[in-house]
Amino acid sequence: MHRTHTCGELTLADLGKTVVLSGWVQKSRDLGGMTFIDVRDRYGVTQLVFDTADDETLRSKARELGREYVIKVTGRVIERESKNPKLATGEIEIKVSSLDVLNAAKLPPFTIEDDTDGGDDLRMKYRYLDLRRNPVRNNLVLRHRLAQETRKYLDLQHFLEVETPVLIKSTPEGARDFVVPSRMNPGEFYALPQSPQTFKQLLMVSGFDRYFQLVKCFRDEDLRADRQPEFTQIDCEMAFVEQEDILNLFEGLVKHLFKTVKGIDLGEVPRMTYDQAMRLYGSDKPDLRFGMPFVELNDILKGAGFPVFDNAELVVGINAVGCASYTRKQLDALTDFIKRPQIGATGLIYLRYNENGSLKSSADKFYGSEQLQQWAQAFGAKPGDLLLVMAGQTDKVRKQLNELRLEVAAQLGLRDKNNYAPLWVVDFPLLEWDEASGRYHAMHHPFTSPKPEDIPLLDSRPGDVRANAYDLVINGTEIGGGSIRIHDRELQSLMFKHLGFTPEEAQKQFGFLLDAFTYGAPPHGGIAFGFDRLVAIFAGIDSIRDVIAFPKNNSGKDVMIDSPAPISDEQLAELSIAVK
Ligand code: AMO
Repeated sequence: MHRTHTCGELTLADLGKTVVLSGWVQKSRDLGGMTFIDVRDRYGVTQLVFDTADDETLRSKARELGREYVIKVTGRVIERESKNPKLATGEIEIKVSSLDVLNAAKLPPFTIEDDTDGGDDLRMKYRYLDLRRNPVRNNLVLRHRLAQETRKYLDLQHFLEVETPVLIKSTPEGARDFVVPSRMNPGEFYALPQSPQTFKQLLMVSGFDRYFQLVKCFRDEDLRADRQPEFTQIDCEMAFVEQEDILNLFEGLVKHLFKTVKGIDLGEVPRMTYDQAMRLYGSDKPDLRFGMPFVELNDILKGAGFPVFDNAELVVGINAVGCASYTRKQLDALTDFIKRPQIGATGLIYLRYNENGSLKSSADKFYGSEQLQQWAQAFGAKPGDLLLVMAGQTDKVRKQLNELRLEVAAQLGLRDKNNYAPLWVVDFPLLEWDEASGRYHAMHHPFTSPKPEDIPLLDSRPGDVRANAYDLVINGTEIGGGSIRIHDRELQSLMFKHLGFTPEEAQKQFGFLLDAFTYGAPPHGGIAFGFDRLVAIFAGIDSIRDVIAFPKNNSGKDVMIDSPAPISDEQLAELSIAVK
């Protein structure tokens, strides 16, 4: 027998028992005539004691054990002299009577401790060792819990988990496809799904009514902390529903997860339209853990002869509450921050509301004291506040001020990872102008239905047409997105036309869906949550890499298995791919 107990469960209640434990050597230390070894498994750590007075040979064997050796011991549970209150097993130790080395181990390339000395690259190369560390393993335990609770909730709501194929053809979610050559069909390729979007809609046509799947999706796009080339969605679709039904049901899921996994009552999730979000926060995923809404100042600050403001389409600012004491150096640092090429702003104007009530601005020359008063009033500012103002072309300046708002909040410690601010953003625009191709693209995807009242605008003002589309945002991260779909062939064909498809192209690429709509398609809609992002938010970490067992690095590589990698000329030939 390899073990009677795990390394995380023995307590004073087990005193005197003879037990068998197996696990990895965490560390060992010698003290006088005794050797202490911490043995570790998934469940915890237990201290073993080898005493020369009992058995000298056994103790010398113990002294030869290296870190990460796999061992099995038999021994008796005794009370510890110096107890460790931080450890579940900290009141006992095992007086060992026999020791087997199940496998020796080379010295690991980094220490298997909560705080390790291994850099990112090394830990990725030896991911199986990194996964032995508590913080990494705990993230996967959390992931498992969230997956189980998701399934439980959706099952109770009568959702059926249905698997959809992985070798498919292109689905338009806006990224590039990963493609797979077909040996049996020379010169032809499958695409890996960017999402199961069309399949879940077909399942609704089939009458499945409520579908979900924890599903891998693949997108060939530039990687960031919250993006991996393969990632997991909680993908869902429902028939005979309106937007309101979907928001309510999935707000229920999010609340269930917070309650069961974190013990947090989330309360009602607020809603905001896309327009409001852009106007108040310059972002379609505002972080609402703190306020600091935008205040528009065109009426107050334009026309005073200050060219930076006079020539701008929008003058807009935020109140950095309590920051009037910021030094020149701190203000310069903020200006440098927004001038970085990634943000690209030209400058920052401030108004300091000093504790003594006086007002001091970096644009003093152009404004009298009455105007400065008005300026401060527009923000509802109080002595001690610092108003930060930017000006420029509306869309651009909003984006730039959004970055500044997040930076200031981070500096003020307002982005607390243990504080959760969820938000539904609704009424997204249907279409988005794409500079590069010089035409409109679907903002969500081409199957999203326009708001019926906005359909007449499709020809005249396509950019103003709103969609029945919504996102769930938590702490400034887009966690999920979905929409009510088009279920009418004519309307879907019209959408394809507006997206620049000829009828022939639309039929070629999506004929299966258009045809399906002619065989009795129910009204339907759905949503998909980025499961990795959700786990990362629950874990309070920034990168989704840390919640994925075997992630890719920022170049899209798995450095452990060394993938992607070239394939042999034989394989290429077999796949009818020209050999270079
Ligand atoms: P969308 O493209 O918004 O919608 O994706 C849904 C959610 O998936 C997550 N996500 C990602 N997570 C990690 N890495 C990525 N590369 C990545 N890309 C997206 C985000 C996002 O909110 N079929 C539609 C859903 C629907 O309409 O029902 C879709 O895929 O959290």
